[in-house]
Amino acid sequence: MNRSIILGTGSAVPKKILTNQELESMVDTSDEWISSRTGIKQRHIAEDGDTTSLLAAEATRQALEMAGVKPEEVDMIVVGTTSPDMIMPNTGALVQKHLGASNAFGFDVYAACSGFVYALTVADKFVKDKPESKVVAIGAELLSYITDWQDRNTCVLFGDAAGAAVLSGTNDSDRGILSTHLHSDGRLWELLHIPGGGVVYPPSGEMAERRDHCIRMHGNEVFKHAVRSMADVAQEALTANELGPDDVDLFIPHQANIRIMKKVAERLEIPLDRVYVNIERYGNTSSATIPVALDEANRSGRLKPGDLVLLDAFGGGFTWGAVMMRW
Ligand code: UT7
Repeated sequence: MNRSIILGTGSAVPKKILTNQELESMVDTSDEWISSRTGIKQRHIAEDGDTTSLLAAEATRQALEMAGVKPEEVDMIVVGTTSPDMIMPNTGALVQKHLGASNAFGFDVYAACSGFVYALTVADKFVKDKPESKVVAIGAELLSYITDWQDRNTCVLFGDAAGAAVLSGTNDSDRGILSTHLHSDGRLWELLHIPGGGVVYPPSGEMAERRDHCIRMHGNEVFKHAVRSMADVAQEALTANELGPDDVDLFIPHQANIRIMKKVAERLEIPLDRVYVNIERYGNTSSATIPVALDEANRSGRLKPGDLVLLDAFGGGFTWGAVMMRW
């Protein structure tokens, strides 16, 4: 049976760090509130010259090097992002340019914080169709450009980062991506959205003044939906593979809030020592949280061949999804 397998991972963050203490002088907040309500201590923030596609390309370079794949061998680049460099061209095409991946085609998927799980699913299907192909799935965001730095409800949460995975086909029946599970519910779009900048509310001076190109969120409502949907889709992935919580070696949930991660793990009965958490260092980097965590777990030796890994995401749309794989 042909499966896709991850051959290499990579991640990158901007150099500049913004701490909770520094945020105290920007909005009415405290390190105590942010740490206890979210688990976040600091986040990386882009500076002049940083772009989403450059950060994505840096993460991809590392992933290709680990995989032993040259840029010109890449067939497809799919990027999950909600903060592209520009509306057009797509981020995948720009990553292709930065890498010199002259034989690849690139495009973006637009699924907010679920972007990497969506991109990985698209990559998995492509590799299953063409097992000899080399495909890059990326989650990359410069959320600092779409964050309202005067809104304490949101600005303490987000950060910038990119993560990438290189996939190809395998005949090894014991390893690779076992299943992918995607969902969305557009009826709930208003709970987490960016009002301005599209055709409904086109860019204008008034729009910029109201900072309506920035993320708006009903945190409490999103919290409840995130816990329920992430637990449900992770359970769906376990059931589909006839596996139970004890089989999972590493659970990598979207890093939006430590309290969400704990509640989801509790519902699934996965002990916390098998849950990957790095939100304290990066904050919520949307589609980048899962591939950055995957890369860290991979490079630190926390992942061993044959380990069962469960990825679980939730974001605006709403979108949510899970990927089950044998490392
Ligand atoms: O990545 C995509 C999915 N996103 C998520 O999953 C995020 C989901 N939501 C959350 O993580 C949480 O709802 C938040 C972290 C956003 C907020 O935490 P909360 O425990 O739900 O707080 P809250 O919104 O109920 O606010 C509680 C209080 C309010 O004050 P009052 O009305 O009780 O006086 C807020 O005004 O905390 C206040 N507050 C703050 N205080 C200090 C809100 N933000 C801040 C802040 N600093 N930054």
